[in-house]
Amino acid sequence: MRRNSRIVGTGSYLPPRRVTNVELAAELAALGVQTSDEWIVERTGIQARHFAAADVCSSDLALHAARQALQAADLAATDIDLIIVATSTPDMVFPSTACILQNKLGAHGCPAFDVQAVCSGFIYALSVADAMIKAGAASKALVVGAEVFSRLLDFKDRSTCVLFGDGAGAVVLQASKAPGILASDLHADGKHVGLLCVPGHVSGGEVLGRPLLTMDGQAVFKLAVGVLDAAARAVLERAGKLAADIDWLIPHQANRRIMQSTARKLKLPMDKVIVTVDQHGNTSAASIPLALDAGVRSGRVKTGELLLLEGVGGGFTWGAVLLNL
Ligand code: UT7
Repeated sequence: MRRNSRIVGTGSYLPPRRVTNVELAAELAALGVQTSDEWIVERTGIQARHFAAADVCSSDLALHAARQALQAADLAATDIDLIIVATSTPDMVFPSTACILQNKLGAHGCPAFDVQAVCSGFIYALSVADAMIKAGAASKALVVGAEVFSRLLDFKDRSTCVLFGDGAGAVVLQASKAPGILASDLHADGKHVGLLCVPGHVSGGEVLGRPLLTMDGQAVFKLAVGVLDAAARAVLERAGKLAADIDWLIPHQANRRIMQSTARKLKLPMDKVIVTVDQHGNTSAASIPLALDAGVRSGRVKTGELLLLEGVGGGFTWGAVLLNL
């Protein structure tokens, strides 16, 4: 019988400092940068985001989310035989945030590595864990998206600094007889590297280049709307399902208008879309597992339902995963 993989627990964590648009606008005004709650809500749907304290790293956020997911799965950290962390804001240049998380969890020996696909990172990580489980290389995987994107923001650039927040989400993916992950679809097109990037690197003890987020928002918006629809249709076709079969669309949380457009193309009403961008902002690789966990913990997303997860981001990267919870 074909080996499958199923999500058996979810968890998430947001750092305690919540910053509303009004508070952020006041802080930015002090820097001479003009924005408003009205503009941010109208153009993005974002009302607030969470920012981590200066001494808190991605692995700290990941640890909280991972512990919650393990608890939901009724597993101990030592039961886990694979750890993948999706992040673009690692604690260090190396070793991986996954290794740092493994040590904090006290689970030693299993393979642990990071996946770097920016806002598509969780979709990439989940697909890799699924493939490893199906190949028999792991049976209980911890898959985490964790970010401190606030560290990368240029607070003089109003077109980007109002969009992002910090947080982490996690799932435990376990080998199963019953189907869980039905299909995944991953893509990248490196010709768009410059559209969304942090063009800095470490060399000879110095940071070279500009280690702050830069984005051509309109170009990203247009590309995102097209590729997300294609990825959604690819996983539906691969799994022999129709858009009408989807119980929940759980997209990357970048902009409410992108989510509305994706839902409209699939003819899904917005009440079948989990939206957390209003309270979380864009948390990059953490946004999908954060939204999934919010859906599960609120009782809306239930075991057995058909979920379409999809992400898009820097690289340019994009992808989708269709699964039965
Ligand atoms: O997570 C990875 C994927 N990322 C995304 O999916 C982001 C995709 N892009 C977007 O979400 C949108 O393009 C943005 C939210 C980034 C921008 O929205 P937009 O509707 O595309 O606005 P725009 O860039 O066309 O700017 C419109 C106006 C400009 O003013 P002028 O030139 O018309 O006078 C901007 O200067 O809005 C101005 N503006 C702002 N005004 C107040 C830009 N940012 C702000 C701001 N507050 N924070």
